[in-house]
Amino acid sequence: MDNRIIIFDTTLRDGEQSPGASMNTEEKLQIAKHLARMKVDVIEAGFPIASQGDFEAVTAVAETVKGVTICGLCRSLNKDIDRAVEALKNAEKPRLHVFLATSKIHLEYKLKMAEDKILETAVNAVKYAKSFYNDVEFSPEDASRTEPSFLAKVTEAVIDAGATTVNIPDTVGYTTPEEFYNLITYLYKNVKNINQAVISVHCHNDLGLAVANSLAAIRAGARQVECTVNGIGERAGNCAMEEFIMAAKTRKDIYDYQIDLDTTKIYPISTLVSKITGIFVQRNKAIVGQNAFAHEAGIHQHGYLANKETYEIMTPESVGIKEATLVLGKHSGRHAFQKHMEDLGFSLTEEKLNATFKAFKDLADKKKEVYDDDLISLIETELGTVAGGYEIENIQIQTGNNIRPVACVKIKKDGEFFEDASIGDGPVDAACQAIKRIIGIDCNLEDYRLHSSTSGMDAIGEVSTIITDGKYHITGKASDTDVIIASAKSFLNAVNRLINIKEQNKKD
Ligand code: KIV
Ligand code: ZN
Repeated sequence: MDNRIIIFDTTLRDGEQSPGASMNTEEKLQIAKHLARMKVDVIEAGFPIASQGDFEAVTAVAETVKGVTICGLCRSLNKDIDRAVEALKNAEKPRLHVFLATSKIHLEYKLKMAEDKILETAVNAVKYAKSFYNDVEFSPEDASRTEPSFLAKVTEAVIDAGATTVNIPDTVGYTTPEEFYNLITYLYKNVKNINQAVISVHCHNDLGLAVANSLAAIRAGARQVECTVNGIGERAGNCAMEEFIMAAKTRKDIYDYQIDLDTTKIYPISTLVSKITGIFVQRNKAIVGQNAFAHEAGIHQHGYLANKETYEIMTPESVGIKEATLVLGKHSGRHAFQKHMEDLGFSLTEEKLNATFKAFKDLADKKKEVYDDDLISLIETELGTVAGGYEIENIQIQTGNNIRPVACVKIKKDGEFFEDASIGDGPVDAACQAIKRIIGIDCNLEDYRLHSSTSGMDAIGEVSTIITDGKYHITGKASDTDVIIASAKSFLNAVNRLINIKEQNKKD
């Protein structure tokens, strides 16, 4: 059996299903370009029928990102497949990913369908997908809780119908490494045409076993692993790409497989995804957390200094972690700035480049030393800006101990200015309340996180907020050297996104 593992990244689809992690088309494009540079094999760019935004993002990724397979998700319905075909029409290598649940609990309570009907629907959907593209993946949703004999029957039938990949999802993160190994082994023994398709796995992390389950599955014969950057995704997330890859590569003595991925791109993409989604990476997270390569205990430091391998099983350089480097100063020109952006992996439109360059000059005036992480914050703020949305003109805050904070906020939209003032429980609350009064929007701040992009007293403050109007949960992000301004901008960014999504859904 071929020992090459296909890396299928679903950060833009399952990853986006993390609460509050919605991304706009421009943000998805930047992530997709980074994924392609990193040499993942397949990018699942979205679920085209889910919304107009998803459709546009899949279309843009399919048109722009070449050299990698671009995949669109569809239920086993012709209208979903039609929509995905339309979105993928300019892809160099398009893939349709069709799914249908197969477990008893899903059949009885969600689909209200008998097993025969499931089989027929899955086969028809694969045949229909196959009439458009050769590359068709089928996923029996909740496979790990499906009766193995029925799972084998479905797998065999969809391969006969033309599926080139059959993905076995552990949809609810319920399985364990031994059990999953046995399930994949069972399929290899009981599906007679199994060698005509690639067997894939898609593990959720509800019990913290997604990476372990994926590793067990490849030992049993699975040759595609579905994963996301930083492990983001529905509920507790998906198999973390960086953890799976580095476990397999570091323990090549056990996992002797070929994985053609450039691991030095791991840290940069982790930072990008974290900044774009507003989902910060925990300090002690394996591979990409801030502490992943830090040695605190004296005895560890002593051993490490004598020989790095005493306490280091892989190097920070192998995952693309570099010393923070001073990159550009206030006298750097636009050309040097553009070149540096390209080196960081960003190809920006003229408009975005100009806006980011201006933000860089403003920052360089306030902050002596500008680092890569600062630049990524600026880019992300620019990518996340909602075109035509409200913008902060100025904010004045009065705060202190024993007084009620007051914020006076002036915002603008389409050349018109609006202002109001509000008191609040703190300065951030006062600014958000004033913004709500001006726009007349009813929403609550559900989550608020402040993080500094680099070290130092003059570091940029990055603020990620999640707001909700009861129906949607939307993330807003912004950065500024003043954390109150960053907070107000982040809140306004979330409000702009919420207004956009409501408008879009009115049209859908
Ligand atoms: O978790 C799951 O089952 C999925 C499928 C659509 C593959 O995301
Ligand atoms: Zn999933």
